[in-house]
This record gives sequence, structure tokens and C-alpha cells, in this order.
Amino acid sequence: FRDPTFSEDVIHWQKRHGRHALPWQNTDDAYRIWLSEIMLQQTQVAAVIPYYERFLERFPDVRALAQASQDEVMAYWSGLGYYSRARNLHRCAQRVVQEYGGVFPAEPALLADLPGIGRSTAAAITAFANGTRAAILDGNVKRVFCRVFGVEGDPGTKPVEDMLWKRAEALLPQSGMQAYTQGLMDLGATVCVRGNPLCSACPLAARCVALATGRTRELPHRKPK
Ligand code: ADE
Repeated sequence: FRDPTFSEDVIHWQKRHGRHALPWQNTDDAYRIWLSEIMLQQTQVAAVIPYYERFLERFPDVRALAQASQDEVMAYWSGLGYYSRARNLHRCAQRVVQEYGGVFPAEPALLADLPGIGRSTAAAITAFANGTRAAILDGNVKRVFCRVFGVEGDPGTKPVEDMLWKRAEALLPQSGMQAYTQGLMDLGATVCVRGNPLCSACPLAARCVALATGRTRELPHRKPK
């Protein structure tokens, strides 16, 4: 599983070709990062941006959100869909205020215990906010790993997913977690896309099993989630 230049290649690519001006980048405010990650769980970047900005104007910090009514939070979420996210968001804000004095915990396992925050989202928040070495594994990243490493089997099943988490952890860089984490997300969203990947633009092409064996269309085996 060792591949010491994997993270270097992702980081180098992210710096040159990744996204750098998204509204939730260039901040270490865990509240802003958390809010973006929840909105981005099931919604595309372009659709999220106007909601994100309106939401932050009305709820600039976790206390403002915790104190708002459920109805008002829903009104600001309305149109984004997957409304359980908004209910969990509100409950999570209230717990961060009550249990952590309004400061998001820096430990991924504590974050993952809060409503609406799974293991990958917890890792993304701490990587972006604190540079913590924690692995992400969302649907896009699963697709990148399945192709690069030629992973057979459905990444939605437990044994395959467990193996992907192990790989994701083994690949983490010693430093540069922000660029690395954003780079994996950007690769999945802009290069290693579901339909027709842009392998000529991929920093991982030289080591990609799917590309070498002509199977970028077959891998991952099932739609990952
Ligand atoms: N999708 C999930 N997290 C993201 C992020 N930080 N930037 C862009 N797309 C994302």
C-alpha cells in the first residue's frame, strides 16, 4: 500500500490546477468549513455557493445558528434539498454551543459523534481547519482510488470500503493536508469524473491501474456512495 509520491503528486497538482477561490477556502474557521462540507455532501459546488453566502450573512457563527428557530434555518436551507441535513445542522450547532462552548472540537472522532457529521466529513473539517492528518473517503474519492488502484468489487460494500479507508490512511502526507484533501476532492470533481475521465490531465495517470488496463469505464464497479 505504500506510495510515498502519491500525496506529493496530488499536492503539486492541486497547487497548480486545483480550485483555490471557493468561498469556504482560505479560512481556518471550523464553522464555515463545517457548513460548506454539509452543504456539499449532496449538492454541487455551483448550487451551494449562493446558499452558503446567504446562510453566513444571517448566521455568521455557530451561536447565531444555534439560537435561531428551526423554521428560520429551514427557510435559509429551502431549495438545497435533503432537508435532514438542515435539521442535523441546527442540532449540531446547538450541541457545539452546549457541549463545547461554541468551539468545534479538533478531534475527528468527537466531530463524527455530532449530528450530520460522518467519518469523511469529520476528517475534511479537521484537515482544512487544523491540518490534522485524517483521511477523507467520499464518493468522488472512492472513484479515484478504485481506478488508480484497480479495486474490484462494489465500493459501497463493507469489505471494499474498509480496504479503501486503510489505503486512504496509508497515503496521507506528513504535511500539506489542506492542499492534499482539496486536491483529492478537486481531482474527483474535475478530472477523474464519472463518465469520461480526463486522464491526460491527471497527475496519477502514470500509476493508474484502470487507465493502464483500459478499464476507466468499468471502475468503480458500482456507483459509489
Ligand atoms: N465537496 C466536498 N467538499 C468540498 C470542498 N471543500 N471543495 C469543493 N468541493 C467539495
